[in-house]
Amino acid sequence: MTKPRHGDTLDLTVTGLAFGGQGIARADDFVVFLAGAVPGDEVRATVNKVKKRYAEARVEQIIRPSVDRVSAHCSHYGTCGGCRWQSLDYEVQLRYKEQQVVDSLERLGGLEGFEVSEIKTMDHPWRYRNKVEFSIGNAEGRLVVGFHPPGRWDAVLPQTECHLLPLTTEGVRATVEEWLRRVGAEPWDPRNHEGYARHLTIREAQGTGEVLVNLVTAPGALPEPTGLVDTLRARHPEVVGIMHATNAGEAEVATGVPFQTLWGRPHLYETLGDLRLKVSIDAFFQTNTRMAYVLYETAAQEAALSGDDIVWDLYSGIGSIALYLARRARAVLGIEVVPAAVRDAVENAVENGVTSATFLEGNVRVVLKEVLEGRRSLPLELAHPDVVVVDPPRGGLAHKVIHRIVAAGPRRVVYVSCNPTTLAPDAALFHELGYRLTRVTPVDMFPHTPHIEAVALLEPATQQPAGE
Ligand SMILES: C[S@@+](CC[C@H](N)C(=O)[O-])C[C@H]1O[C@@H](n2cnc3c(N)ncnc32)[C@H](O)[C@@H]1O
Repeated sequence: MTKPRHGDTLDLTVTGLAFGGQGIARADDFVVFLAGAVPGDEVRATVNKVKKRYAEARVEQIIRPSVDRVSAHCSHYGTCGGCRWQSLDYEVQLRYKEQQVVDSLERLGGLEGFEVSEIKTMDHPWRYRNKVEFSIGNAEGRLVVGFHPPGRWDAVLPQTECHLLPLTTEGVRATVEEWLRRVGAEPWDPRNHEGYARHLTIREAQGTGEVLVNLVTAPGALPEPTGLVDTLRARHPEVVGIMHATNAGEAEVATGVPFQTLWGRPHLYETLGDLRLKVSIDAFFQTNTRMAYVLYETAAQEAALSGDDIVWDLYSGIGSIALYLARRARAVLGIEVVPAAVRDAVENAVENGVTSATFLEGNVRVVLKEVLEGRRSLPLELAHPDVVVVDPPRGGLAHKVIHRIVAAGPRRVVYVSCNPTTLAPDAALFHELGYRLTRVTPVDMFPHTPHIEAVALLEPATQQPAGE
């Protein structure tokens, strides 16, 4: 096997897709990753990084396009990097996503003998994002509100369209950009930590159409804030709240920084099935509401509730899964670390007439220990779950959390995962501790990106598996 060298030009045939979404080719058996290439492409590429076991190359020319290539919807495709699979036929994307879930579980988790349900898909896989965080920067001497190009945290691309965003969100972006230019706001420069306007967060509920706008700046009063409020309200009657947040630090974050409400309210209402949910500007909520419904329904099917079960919803956010399941259970217990999300969850229970839900604030690892040791004042029955649903962040579950769930002895564990590469080792540890993976259902929450969600069902190994 000859290792390619930096600067080599190679003709390659792309044969697969990596987890991050790049094409995979082989040069004399050496693995080469190619951003922007899809399986079936024949490309000419220049090697720009060589590591011990793989290289990365930049595509210079597509010699023969793959039959699975489609023309991208967006004029920014190729420079923006937001939806890297836009040029791959949607049906083919789905097959790769299914395969990635199975490969992770088999190769990274060493698991076998589980059922794989057909991937759940979107009928119209566009304009599905209900939240976006834009960066504000300088492009060719003008302030722009847009996205970073791939690998360039210090640059922002001028933005004219994004087909993953609803139309009102696109309009609000343009309005705020125009206003910032008009009042002469300085864009933030992340290299020197100078400037004023830093980020723009927009949330748009798919069920109610309500829109929230949060402009994040460095410290200092907004110039002409009433002008911003009046313009947004006049042009976009869907807007229900306008916030101004201040980030005094160097970290490029738009969430969790102090804000004041310039007009309206700092939350919107979203509908999901027959639930009406309050979502605060900073709380986590699934980014694709239409598919969140499909995801929760899949989780509900796997939970197979009897109507008399105790359910734990760990990493409960604004309580959406707990409340979705509450009507099919005796009682539900949610645990979540973000205080504002817990407050939303409690209000959401009231708003939806659910009296059987309890929400605890804190780190799941710590709260579970306290619950198991009887150190939390809870109705006794809540300490003994029949079903545990977990929906952790991308990093997956801490080992102690898995040990504590197993110690609680549920009949079923329903694992909602946004990252199959952490689901796999977590499912393997459950397996070691006596819970086997019986079924996994991929759910396409993020069309045109390499991300894939999955719902996994784990059951005690001694129990008859689902569907047998
Ligand atoms: C993927 S979200 C799931 C939220 C919710 N289940 C939903 O469907 O909208 C993960 C949630 O876990 C919370 N979280 C992250 N780390 C946590 C921890 N150690 N303990 C408790 N909650 C945590 C986050 O704030 C976020 O709300």
